[in-house]
Amino acid sequence: MAVHYSIPKSNAHYKKAAERLPLGVTSNYRSWGPDETLYVSRAKGARLWDFDGNEYVDYRIGYGPAILGYGDERVDEAARKGMELGGPTALSTEREWIVAERMAKMISSVDMVRFANSGTEAVMAGLRLARSFTGRSRHIMIEGGYHGLSDGVLWEVHHERDASGEVSLQVQSEGKGVPSLLRELFDTVPLNDPDELESVLKVHGDDVATLLIEVILGNAGGIVSEPGYLERVRALCDEYGVLLMVDEVKTGFRVARGGVQELMGVDADLCTFAKAMGNGYPISALAGKREIMSTIGPGGSAQGGTYAGHPVCLAAAEKTLEILDETEALEDIVRYGEKMQKGISEILSARGVAHAWSGHPSMSGIFFSESAPRNYKDWVRSDYELYEALAAHLISSGILVEPDSREPFFVSAAHDDSCLDETMEKFAVALDLALDERAQAK
Ligand SMILES: Cc1ncc(COP(=O)(O)O)c(C=O)c1O
Repeated sequence: MAVHYSIPKSNAHYKKAAERLPLGVTSNYRSWGPDETLYVSRAKGARLWDFDGNEYVDYRIGYGPAILGYGDERVDEAARKGMELGGPTALSTEREWIVAERMAKMISSVDMVRFANSGTEAVMAGLRLARSFTGRSRHIMIEGGYHGLSDGVLWEVHHERDASGEVSLQVQSEGKGVPSLLRELFDTVPLNDPDELESVLKVHGDDVATLLIEVILGNAGGIVSEPGYLERVRALCDEYGVLLMVDEVKTGFRVARGGVQELMGVDADLCTFAKAMGNGYPISALAGKREIMSTIGPGGSAQGGTYAGHPVCLAAAEKTLEILDETEALEDIVRYGEKMQKGISEILSARGVAHAWSGHPSMSGIFFSESAPRNYKDWVRSDYELYEALAAHLISSGILVEPDSREPFFVSAAHDDSCLDETMEKFAVALDLALDERAQAK
């Protein structure tokens, strides 16, 4: 079956939208250009429909939030109840405590919680708190990590690969307008290289407030921290008085009930959550150790906002976390993810395409290379051009993956056997098309 979607209505809408909305969208990452940008009319379960009525099995699920599937009736019903409170009142409600209690039960490093609206906000508040608590100004990030759109973290590693395959990385701000002065405040280190981290700490350790890390690099194909690495990281942080801040915006309430901290056995000082915690309702959290979190407030750091702890989103989070904690949803997701990986691997192996999976079955990255990457440079060395060609064919046949291979395949509890069968069938066709194009280009 080789469907090839056409999207004339999305294309026409782009022209109109681009007159009022920069790039025709509300987030740069949603704009795929005048001919490819999709506009959505509806989403339900693991599927969505574009303006032209094309149906997709969705592995982006909003970059992770729809863990139970789009439009989960249980969560939506709870959100409607949350609405009955009347709206944000600039006073606190009982649900803040209820959700904080649930989080503390699920995640061992969580003593206290503050809510916000997005991952960006939670990380921003976390960085500020780390600086305030330690009295230090610097931070360290991991190459290939992503922590949202606040200036202190809006830095990426630009890569170049020369003809011999040699890779060089250069830190630069993502777009203009980020003060270059902020570049003085942080260092980046590769994942899985504790010696490099130690070298940086030897130079700047006295002024480093925090190491900000995605333990599974959810914005670099899910590259995973290796056994032993996190123990060294934890020990180095302790030795240098650096707070370990684990950014669980993607992994939280997804890779395990207790997040990546439970999965990998790491104990954070501070951690951030968003995405899966509200099944799509905009809520996030900064959480962590009492000793640190209790310094938020007068004499310590600022955190809050008009919509922080919004009653609708808190009600959605309460129900989402209850379901994730008390049902088999996460186990179902793992089972699906494993079957998906196995099925896709068989298709690739039958055609002799070397590949490796990284991440976790609930958010897996596929790499066209002999072995799974250990760090960002390894991703650059992988054959990501094949992924991009494949992704274009997958999307235009109704399997919605990210065009960029650094975004993992996200699985929800709503992905079912019909999604799986359709994915396998269309994957094989899309791969053959991508391989044919490559052969012709030679
Ligand atoms: C690890 C991580 N941190 C922070 C963010 C920012 O979250 P948001 O887009 O909700 O601001 C993201 C978003 O993808 C993320 O993946």
